[in-house]
Amino acid sequence: MKETFYVTTPIYYPSGRFHIGTSYTTVLADSLKRLNELKGKDCYMLTGTDEHGQKIETVAEKNGLKPKEYVDKMADMAKELWKKMDIQYDDFIRTTDERHEKIVQKIFQIFLDKGDIYKGEYEGLYCIPCETYFTKTQLIDGKCPDCGREVVPMKEEAYFFNMKKYADKLLKYYDEHPDFIKPEFRKNEMINNFIKPGLEDLCVTRTSFDWGIKVPSDPKHVIYVWLDALTNYLTALGYLSDDDSLFEKYWPADVQVIGKDIARFHLIYWPIFLMALDLPLPKHIVVHNWIMMKDGKMSKSKGNVIYPETLIDRYGLDATKYFLLREVPVAQDGIFSPEAFVERYNFDLCNDLSNLLNRTVSMVNKYFQGKVEGYTGCINDVDKELEEFCITQINKFNELIDNFEIANSLQEIWNLIARTNKYIDETSPWILAKNDETEKLKSCIYHLIENLRKIAILIKPFMNETAENILNQIGIKDENLKTWESLNYYDKIKDIKVIEKGEPIFMRLNQEEEIEYLKKNMNQN
Ligand code: MSP
Repeated sequence: MKETFYVTTPIYYPSGRFHIGTSYTTVLADSLKRLNELKGKDCYMLTGTDEHGQKIETVAEKNGLKPKEYVDKMADMAKELWKKMDIQYDDFIRTTDERHEKIVQKIFQIFLDKGDIYKGEYEGLYCIPCETYFTKTQLIDGKCPDCGREVVPMKEEAYFFNMKKYADKLLKYYDEHPDFIKPEFRKNEMINNFIKPGLEDLCVTRTSFDWGIKVPSDPKHVIYVWLDALTNYLTALGYLSDDDSLFEKYWPADVQVIGKDIARFHLIYWPIFLMALDLPLPKHIVVHNWIMMKDGKMSKSKGNVIYPETLIDRYGLDATKYFLLREVPVAQDGIFSPEAFVERYNFDLCNDLSNLLNRTVSMVNKYFQGKVEGYTGCINDVDKELEEFCITQINKFNELIDNFEIANSLQEIWNLIARTNKYIDETSPWILAKNDETEKLKSCIYHLIENLRKIAILIKPFMNETAENILNQIGIKDENLKTWESLNYYDKIKDIKVIEKGEPIFMRLNQEEEIEYLKKNMNQN
């Protein structure tokens, strides 16, 4: 049986159009799925929409729609976007799905029966957009610590989840599973900011609005969004349903990708809910930082929002994904600017990658009628060095990606691309050709093609179409030469023929024009 790999994205609030920030989480998760698929695992990816709560009720009303009509429309919009971004999810869960609602009610009842949920009265400061109560000490400058907006005093009868009961168990778990939270500093934030000062019990129901899942035994209460939302990762697999085969197969999740703003919910409440259900915890929760604009957060009112469609329609999907993954390191915020986008495109994609392919393909055509017969061994001194460099880079890549350092792992691939370009200058194939040093020339060409093959495999999880295009242009048809495992060998290419006239995979952009274009198109569509 194949090893399994279950990866999830957060379920998105369908309260507006998704910008490149929200797409980032999904692109990250999708890349991890593709990578593990390439490694031969049986993968399952879940995404979806978080459709209940006061905020959605209000937005729907503003749009003149009933909540359900509104969320139906928005879920379609999300699916449309993921299709355009070629996101290979296996299931799309909506919190309004019957399969979800039924199980959330069951889970609530289990917690009640166990005494983990009790009835009380909640009085606190409430952030309406975040649907979260805060204590005074949690506020930052008197405002919501998560979104920075105003909070209002509220009081209501409510059910609470006894988080305190599990605090020590959670700390022990953190301690015994150093790889659970990535990057590690997020764990310390949780401990220092929320657990050590004393974990508050979590309010898990509301009576102040209607749009949600009712508590079966007390239907004037609606189950508050976080208990409703977090359990999606289980209900989508059929947990506690008549058919729980997916749950048996894929749980616990291998990786759950989330943004820093929802770290507290996923690193504290979520593991505690799982503990209360006696379920194993996910192997890794990866918390990524945010894509910012030069002047701070993206916001419609500032007019600095950039949507994925704007980039994809003009520059293609792979360039868009490359920018996102490369420019936003998981552990730090990244900045979107038209200048940085055009620069990455022109330097990394066009100068480095596209030109390497182009130069190589045209040399194979010019010197060997497009043919590469087979491995020549290391004839030039630099051949050996190049082969060793390749092995080192692949090892570095693996180490970084295992630690979910995606931007850095891409950097290592680009170091390999740069080294391969340099190899052309060092070996000067045009001089070898002029001097009739055919064996040396053959060796040079073989090494270039082989490196391009490896580069294509390495970038495949992140830039599928580009990888396929490269493999096609260099004439790699044998499926055995496209596998992850084939990164381990250097000598297996035999009797291939490169394409006669390859189109450049990325064409140089006019810097000024494109910066202008991007500036004009921020917040436009
Ligand atoms: N519905 C909750 C999640 C529930 S999961 C059980 C939610 N939804 S959200 O739509 O507001 O955010 C979804 C994801 O998008 C989060 O991981 C968030 O961090 C991410 N991003 C939103 N803006 C972002 C950027 N500007 N940059 C990167 N990611 C960002 O929270």
